[in-house]
Amino acid sequence: MAPLLFIAALMAASCSSSEAASKVSFEENFSMMCKDSHFKTSEDGQIWYLSLDKETGCGFQTKQRYRFGWFSMKLKLVGGDSAGVVTAYYMCSENGAGPERDELDFEFLGNRTGQPYLIQTNIYKNGTGNREMRHMLWFDPTEEYHTYSILWNNHQILFFVDQVPIRVYKNNGEANNFFPNEKPMYLFSSIWNADDWATRGGLEKTDWQKAPFVSSYKDFNIDACQWEDPYPACVSTTTKNWWDQYNAWHLSSTQKNDYAWVQRNLVVYDYCKDYQRFQTMPEECSLSPWD
Ligand SMILES: *[C@@H]1O[C@H](CO)[C@@H](O)[C@H](O)[C@H]1NC(C)=O
Ligand SMILES: *[C@@H]1O[C@H](CO)[C@@H](O)[C@H](O)[C@H]1NC(C)=O
Ligand SMILES: *[C@@H]1O[C@H](CO)[C@@H](O)[C@H](O)[C@H]1NC(C)=O
Repeated sequence: MAPLLFIAALMAASCSSSEAASKVSFEENFSMMCKDSHFKTSEDGQIWYLSLDKETGCGFQTKQRYRFGWFSMKLKLVGGDSAGVVTAYYMCSENGAGPERDELDFEFLGNRTGQPYLIQTNIYKNGTGNREMRHMLWFDPTEEYHTYSILWNNHQILFFVDQVPIRVYKNNGEANNFFPNEKPMYLFSSIWNADDWATRGGLEKTDWQKAPFVSSYKDFNIDACQWEDPYPACVSTTTKNWWDQYNAWHLSSTQKNDYAWVQRNLVVYDYCKDYQRFQTMPEECSLSPWD
C-alpha cells in the first residue's frame, strides 16, 4: 500500500532525541488500576500485558502529571477477533471523566478477524471533546509492536504512528476554548469493552468466547516537564526543552510529506469535514496544519 519512497522517507526520519530519554519503570512511574489477574508483565518486567474478559478490563496510569513534552510507547493490539474491544492510550488532567477535564486520546478500535482496526483520536478542552478523527493504518497493528506518540507543546499537538504524524492540532496563540495547554495531564492506558459503539458503529458485538483479550505494551518513553505542586516549573515557553523549541512548533518538511500522504490515503473520518454534524465549524478547524 505504501509507496517505496514513503518507506524510504520513514526509515530516514528516525526520531531525534527521544531515544536518549530515560527509561520509565512500572513500579516507579505507574500505578495499576485493575486486578492482579488482569495485569501481567514479562519476566524482565519490560513488557506489560493488559487483559479484558467478561468480568472486567484493566488499565494503568502515571503517578506524575506532565505539562508539555513527548509521550511514546510501543503497542501490540489484540489479535484475531477483537470486535468491540477498545485499547486506549491517552492523557488526561483527571482520574475520571470530570466536566472540566483536558484530554488527548488515541483509541484503537478492534474488529472481526481479518477486518481492519481503526485509530480514533480526540481532544478535550475543559470537558468538551467532539473532535474525533479516524484513520486506517498501513500495517496490521496486531502483528508487531508499533510506536504511538504524542508531542504536546503550546503551539501544536501531534499524534504520531511510528514516525508519521497522522494528526496535527494547532493553537492560534490567543485565548481560546479549544487548545488544552493549562492543565497538566497524567498518561493512561486501558483496555475495555465498547461494543455499544466501537466496531461498525456498535453493530459488531464482543465475542466473549474469545476472551481474554490481551494488548501488550513496552518501551514507554516520557520526555516531558513533570508537574510539581504548588505552582510548577512547566510554564515558560522559552525553556531549553526540545519539545518547546521552534522546530517542534510545526511539521518538518519530511513530516509534511508523510502527513500529506496520510491525509490523502488513510483518513476515514474528520470532524472538521462533517457539515451534517456542525452547522458552524469549530474555530480550530480553520487553522492550517502546514504553518
Ligand atoms: C519516574 O520515577 C522516578 C522515581 O520517582 C523519577 O525520578 C522520574 O523522574 C520519573 N520519571 C518520569 C518520566 O516521570
Ligand atoms: C469550564 O467548564 C466549566 C464546567 O462546564 C465551566 O463552568 C467553566 O466556565 C469552564 N471554564 C472556562 C475557562 O471556560
Ligand atoms: C471493521 O471492518 C469493517 C469491514 O471491513 C469496516 O467497515 C470498519 O471500518 C472496520 N473498523 C471498525 C472500527 O468498525
